[in-house]
Amino acid sequence: MIKVAAVGDLHFDRKSHKRIAEHLRGLKGKADILVLAGDLTQTGHPDEIKVLIEDLSFSPIPIVAVLGNHDHHADQVDIITKMLRDNGVHVLERSSITFEIKGVKIGIAGAKGFGGGFIGACGSDFGEKEMKNFVRHSRTEAREFEKVIKELECDLKIALLHYSPIMETLEGEKKEIYPFLGSYYLAEAVDYGQADIVFHGHAHSGIEKGTTPSGIPVRNVAQPVIRHAYNLYSIEKRLEATRLLNRPQ
Ligand SMILES: [Fe+2]
Ligand SMILES: [Fe+2]
Repeated sequence: MIKVAAVGDLHFDRKSHKRIAEHLRGLKGKADILVLAGDLTQTGHPDEIKVLIEDLSFSPIPIVAVLGNHDHHADQVDIITKMLRDNGVHVLERSSITFEIKGVKIGIAGAKGFGGGFIGACGSDFGEKEMKNFVRHSRTEAREFEKVIKELECDLKIALLHYSPIMETLEGEKKEIYPFLGSYYLAEAVDYGQADIVFHGHAHSGIEKGTTPSGIPVRNVAQPVIRHAYNLYSIEKRLEATRLLNRPQ
């Protein structure tokens, strides 16, 4: 069993100095890995990342992060990603990392994800090129993420996203904005990729717990939802992990 500390939507700005530093210092002995589910900053400005990096330096355990839509706002993704990586944070974007913890090989596949909506109320690849681009981007992001999850060779697979793969954890958000909060393509990615658990953020007014159609636990760890510096999760390989899911050709 491994212990994961998870939080999303920290939304650090230039004045967030030491907001979570002491909480992170306290992770020693409590968790094996800290995962950050995007929206690390308010606008994605390097000055905000500098403040966040100071706080993250208090973490005694490895940190794995994906970016969120807010981190894209200033259009400086390459710069802030490099700043985080230079300071030891493993930033994932349709990519993965593995760790060996207590003899268990843990794989984390991470991606920001995108919106698009959910079955019965989603955008379709039809009409104006802007609409096609939106839906195609959502699908491509998810399909590439699925490939990354599938290619992980490990005992336990964690999927880390910013956008939500399911509607269940959006409960409390306005239904009208669901298509901007996630996409069912992401649920397909984690289901066909056979992840063991999914963490996401972005839905500040949602709820913590849900499951994908194939029964994978989903946890919305947006800080306004969990109302703590982080939540702790004990993760074991699911017994029914022998299930076989293949995408229809
Ligand atoms: Fe957010
Ligand atoms: Fe967000």
